[in-house]
Amino acid sequence: MIRIKGLWKSFGDNKVLKGVNLDIETGETIVVIGQSGCGKSVLMKTIVGLLIPDDGEIEIENVSLKNISRKKLLEIRKKIGMVFQSSALFDSFSVWENVGLGLIEHSKMSQDEIMRIAREKLKLVGLSDVEDMYPAELSGGMKKRVGIARAIAMNPQFVLYDEPTTGLDPIIADRINNLIIELQKELNITTVAVTHDIISAYKIADRIAMLYDGEIIFDGTPKEVQNTDNPYVQQFIKGEGEGPVSGGI
Ligand SMILES: Nc1ncnc2c1ncn2[C@@H]1O[C@H](COP(=O)(O)OP(=O)(O)OP(=O)(O)O)[C@@H](O)[C@H]1O
Ligand SMILES: [Mg+2]
Repeated sequence: MIRIKGLWKSFGDNKVLKGVNLDIETGETIVVIGQSGCGKSVLMKTIVGLLIPDDGEIEIENVSLKNISRKKLLEIRKKIGMVFQSSALFDSFSVWENVGLGLIEHSKMSQDEIMRIAREKLKLVGLSDVEDMYPAELSGGMKKRVGIARAIAMNPQFVLYDEPTTGLDPIIADRINNLIIELQKELNITTVAVTHDIISAYKIADRIAMLYDGEIIFDGTPKEVQNTDNPYVQQFIKGEGEGPVSGGI
């Protein structure tokens, strides 16, 4: 499981995370919702060790990331696949090289073997005959799926998705939702997603947690989210923005 305890993270005077507590059980899918800019991506990057918290702790399978050696952190990182908000594909690498990047860097596998795995993972996300293409030749939805194929290339136990459906049309978004559910079931992956897409959250989540003003202010099943009278949750799920722009899509 992943345990997040009293997590604080600031950038200068900007206090983004102000004591986030959250436990994620093995095999479950948890979705963190919250408005644009509330710190969802910061939370994800902190969980994978890309950002160091100012205070508090992350434990992954009872191992704290605090004061951990680089070697040990790399070992833990191999168990976690991350799908970045922007897909984060390397433009000068082909699709299969992007998918196999972790294996190219961290394994002694031959190029043929890595290509075979990349093709297999691309097939899992519903892409074929794209391995020799370059990211610039792909649509947004295809890039997302390549990002997911890369995240699962090293058979992770945990997959973190940062806005898996944002910016995609409803049909492709739903396909991505189904893919997340399938991967969780087929590979028994523990899934953490952050999104401001409440429809996606309802569809994929066992549990939904809301991040607001630096803290998790609500945590429950999709049904409990729909039935809560918590005003911040209500406002979010009804899409009532505080200013002229809401949702940040
Ligand atoms: N590397 C950084 N340096 C300085 N400030 C940062 C950095 N990363 C994030 N922030 C700030 O932290 C806050 C939260 O940003 P974050 O990207 O986590 O929001 P978010 O909830 O993911 O938003 P969105 O839904 O738009 O993706 C913002 O005020 C942002 O400016
Ligand atoms: Mg974000």
